Amino acid sequence: MALFIRLARRTYATKLTEHQAALMARSLPKREAIPGVQHIIVVASGKGGVGKSTVAANFACSLAKLGARVGLLDGDIFGPSIPLLMNVHSEPLINDNNLIIPPQNYNVKCLSMGMLTPTDGAIIWRGPLVMSAIQRLLKGAVWSPLDVLVVDTPPGTGDVHLSLTQHAPITGVVLVTTPHKAAVDVTIRGAEMYHKLKVPILGLVENMRYSICDSCKERTEFFKGPTDLSTKLPPTTISLPLEAHIAECGESGVPVVIKHPNSEYAKLFSQLASHIWGVLEKQSEANNDAQSK
Ligand SMILES: Nc1ncnc2c1ncn2[C@@H]1O[C@H](COP(=O)(O)OP(=O)(O)OP(=O)(O)O)[C@@H](O)[C@H]1O
Ligand SMILES: [Mg+2]
Repeated sequence: MALFIRLARRTYATKLTEHQAALMARSLPKREAIPGVQHIIVVASGKGGVGKSTVAANFACSLAKLGARVGLLDGDIFGPSIPLLMNVHSEPLINDNNLIIPPQNYNVKCLSMGMLTPTDGAIIWRGPLVMSAIQRLLKGAVWSPLDVLVVDTPPGTGDVHLSLTQHAPITGVVLVTTPHKAAVDVTIRGAEMYHKLKVPILGLVENMRYSICDSCKERTEFFKGPTDLSTKLPPTTISLPLEAHIAECGESGVPVVIKHPNSEYAKLFSQLASHIWGVLEKQSEANNDAQSK
């Protein structure tokens, strides 16, 4: 009798677990490729205000200048910057299939919650709404055909980052940080989260380590110490100066790589774009080889 009760309990427990697992699987979003989008690159940092949106906008424009078909999705639901940085403020059109048509500027298709919500009220949303907003921007828009979709993200490691990785296959991450310890430490945490989610870190942008005098070209270092920020982060891909033109261009809606295409900082952004583009090409070749075997 005792054996029977034990067996019955075990069966019930197994059934319950299976049932729970099925329920959980049903409520989890499916990670599906976005039709017609080859690669998704997330620009991230654990820290706020380090230049993620500035890098995302200039990186996207630099990729477009290399000839890539590029989109820029603003994943910062509560503090969207892309409408300002890319000068795309109009409400996007919706096609017959109820898909949003991302407006285009500087050869980059852009989409942001800032185009869909009034600019003057506070957005008070809980996690699930943020997740469905990300899903709508990712999958409810006409992105195709794109070589690269660049995604600007908010600081931290919250809902947006998890939602992105749950909804779509992310090719890789470009991390952005300033060299100060508080920023580097939080960026390492961001890197660790992506590592756990098995998303590779493809590049690291160090921002505002130094400035260059406009007239005498002398370089002033704000942070002494090693060139590479931490052994827990990949080597620095580019190091951007603190530069008035970069900030002014952001405010005026013309990214610095468009307004000052021959400047040193435009060359640095172009170097970042070429580096990432090279990595993506190698990855595509490896995938093609694997498929043909
Ligand atoms: N290299 C730079 N030189 C001068 N100003 C810069 C530079 N990089 C970024 N900025 C300025 O710093 C401010 C913050 O930049 P940005 O909005 O890109 O940061 P963020 O990391 O996206 O911030 P948030 O975490 O709030 O989204 C902006 O005013 C931007 O113009
Ligand atoms: Mg930002």
